[in-house]
Amino acid sequence: MDLSNIRHLLTQQTTDFLAKREHQLLIDGQWRPAASGKTFATVNPATEEVITQIAAAGPEDVDLAVKAARKAFDGGAWPAMKPAERQRLLLKLADLVEAHAQTLAEIESVDNGKSAGIARAVDMALTVDFFRYMAGWATKIEGSTTAVSVPFAPQAQFATYTLREAVGVVAAIVPWNFPLLVAAWKLGPALAAGCTVVLKPAEQTPLTALYLGELIGQAGFPPGVVNILTGDGLEAGAPLTKHPLVDKISFTGSTEVGKIIGHASVDNMTRFTLELGGKSPVIVLDDCDPATAAAGAANAIFFNHGQVCCAGSRLYVQKKMFDNVVSEIGKIASGMTLGHGFDAAAQMGPLVSQEQMDRVCGYIDIGRSQGAEVVAGGGRHSGKGYFVQPTVLANVDHNKRVVQEEIFGPVLTAMPYDSIDEVAAWANDTPYGLGASIWSNNLSKVHRLVPKIKAGTVWVNCHSALDPAMPFGGYKQSGIGRDMGRASLDAYLETKSVFIAI
Ligand code: NAI
Ligand code: MG
Repeated sequence: MDLSNIRHLLTQQTTDFLAKREHQLLIDGQWRPAASGKTFATVNPATEEVITQIAAAGPEDVDLAVKAARKAFDGGAWPAMKPAERQRLLLKLADLVEAHAQTLAEIESVDNGKSAGIARAVDMALTVDFFRYMAGWATKIEGSTTAVSVPFAPQAQFATYTLREAVGVVAAIVPWNFPLLVAAWKLGPALAAGCTVVLKPAEQTPLTALYLGELIGQAGFPPGVVNILTGDGLEAGAPLTKHPLVDKISFTGSTEVGKIIGHASVDNMTRFTLELGGKSPVIVLDDCDPATAAAGAANAIFFNHGQVCCAGSRLYVQKKMFDNVVSEIGKIASGMTLGHGFDAAAQMGPLVSQEQMDRVCGYIDIGRSQGAEVVAGGGRHSGKGYFVQPTVLANVDHNKRVVQEEIFGPVLTAMPYDSIDEVAAWANDTPYGLGASIWSNNLSKVHRLVPKIKAGTVWVNCHSALDPAMPFGGYKQSGIGRDMGRASLDAYLETKSVFIAI
């Protein structure tokens, strides 16, 4: 790739890492090419240029990686490690990510298109915090004791307790929108619990996971505890989800693939956690300041170029404020500067791929053909790179495709409403239930609305706030299970009940 225009902005480590001709798979502590010898290109979405070649894992590599993870789980150094040692390793990894945060942010920016500054301030900062938070759980895994009665053995006495045990080998399959952060959401609790992992990053953004693989080696994790397979969904992802030696799958991505994985999991009774798509409503009540609501709603949809599973993609504004708020958002959208991830003036970057750009532009056209008014934006941004204009569509019927389906780009649909009951019904009337935000200063209205919303997270006067301690996941077709918080640790543990006749 021609990095000449930005080379002076990059750390030496970034330059060296990107200059590698071919990046390999991490299996059992060794970097190796794919068994087939196949590679694929990863592309800079801001320039459409190939960055470098990546090993393309297939079924044979999947089998080797799963067996390495199995061996590391069933015997050897990992199960012998005390919780405090797992905690120390995770803390060491967090320190290393922190020390390399600038390089990781730059690599993420080149690979994904997002701003390097935001990648550092958001993706990398959250990754570091999350590893630290999860490190703490490694030493706080607790079972319980219970006084039992055993009704059919009244004379017998028992001592009973429960043990929480690591579920085993975890297949972690992650998407391209927050590549390193979502990988950390899987690795953190899995490693804290004592599991071993085969991580498959998205084919669009494999680079930061590979850099993390180097840091995992430096931190001192034993070989086979974390294996990394780059490759696509069909050749690498699908065989991983079907492998009989995998005990748990943790997936973030589309609802469509989530369902395929759910079906595959049940065949082997593999445990699974799915964090899937969304169509999150932003609900503006007429008591709030229109400028504040407009700025909040714009941020809810345009952050990360709309490629956020909980993006606020449906805006509902109470009637008397509708025109005011929507025209404000239109002004914000029209005034946004688009540019590559190292352009300090840019407020939004390119979408991740040609495919995603085409998909998003296709939706804008569908919206237009189904009668939507284009208040701002409306298509591809001129020039090279997969840039799409920040777009606001108004006057769209609630049942139209752009209101019902996940677009996963910088496209907002705006609808007016009359009453709280009406907006609650509309907010819930999609297959999804990941997030929602409410904008109001009227406490009693807010408290009445929160329980009506069927979503895994409800934000009030903010959107997309996240913290390692707060569980994140979906109701309905937005998924099963939770990432982050104690809830995510539990998903990597089995419960064993022990009865001792005394
Ligand atoms: P995807 O769901 O196909 O990809 C996510 C991950 O799953 C990638 O690592 C991919 O290689 C893997 N994968 C794909 N097919 C697989 C299979 N059959 N078995 C196992 N793994 C498989 O998502 P894609 O195609 O990149 O994006 C399509 C749409 O999905 C987006 O437009 C967006 O609507 C949604 N999406 C939602 C995300 C979220 O954060 N919830 C993240 C990425 C995409
Ligand atoms: Mg796909």
